[in-house]
Amino acid sequence: MSRPYLMAGNWKMNKTPSEAVVLAEAVKNMKKGANTRKMVAPSFVCIPAVADVLKGSDVTLAAQNMASVESGAHTGETSVLMLKELGVTAVILGHSERRHVYGENDGLINEKVKLALSHGLEVVLCIGETLEEREAGQANDVCFGQLEGGLAGVSAAQMQNVVIAYEPVWAIGTGKTATPGDAQTVHEACRGKIAELYSASVAESVVIQYGGSVKPGNAAELMAQSDIDGALVGGASLDADSFASIVAFDD
Ligand code: PGA
Repeated sequence: MSRPYLMAGNWKMNKTPSEAVVLAEAVKNMKKGANTRKMVAPSFVCIPAVADVLKGSDVTLAAQNMASVESGAHTGETSVLMLKELGVTAVILGHSERRHVYGENDGLINEKVKLALSHGLEVVLCIGETLEEREAGQANDVCFGQLEGGLAGVSAAQMQNVVIAYEPVWAIGTGKTATPGDAQTVHEACRGKIAELYSASVAESVVIQYGGSVKPGNAAELMAQSDIDGALVGGASLDADSFASIVAFDD
């Protein structure tokens, strides 16, 4: 069976609750191919309103982050228990903005990954190299390290609930997309790494999304690559028409 395409909108720190409701309604009504799944990740405060809109729909509701522990004295953090009660079923972890702006390292991200999986949430684990690392020829090694670090202690069975998002840091929000060929090279290498860490069958079934300036104009070309199984979309997911044409890339 071929892997499904996962088209996810990471709204980041955009949209107020009322604006998020409007966008969520639009995503709910977006046409998609039979083998495509839709996901949105609103900010925490928009989640209750968006959950109401998406209830019973075919759109997966994700959070953009969560705390590494269930509860306690962690001012400003959000717990997996709170997210689950609101109907969240997935969480993006290790996004490059969390890694590079907020200093999250592989150890912390791994704690979050394990906690989310133990609660039955689907995890979208983001990985990706900086421009400096790419220019030093380290793109694959950086991604391998983030896979190994982020997935430490995650079982083969739990991998059914893990999606990998390859997002080269230099392509996020910059308008610079990796060429489909460059992205495919890293995706293929990461799938190989997952085969090494787990098995060929886990590697064959894991969904690996590409992220970094995905737009209506480049989505189809990226999705045509054999190891690219979807997109994690930032800027272009904030506009309903743009996201609709990315979701329906194969139309
Ligand atoms: P972008 O963001 O599509 O705006 O480049 C992607 C992401 O950070 O997930």
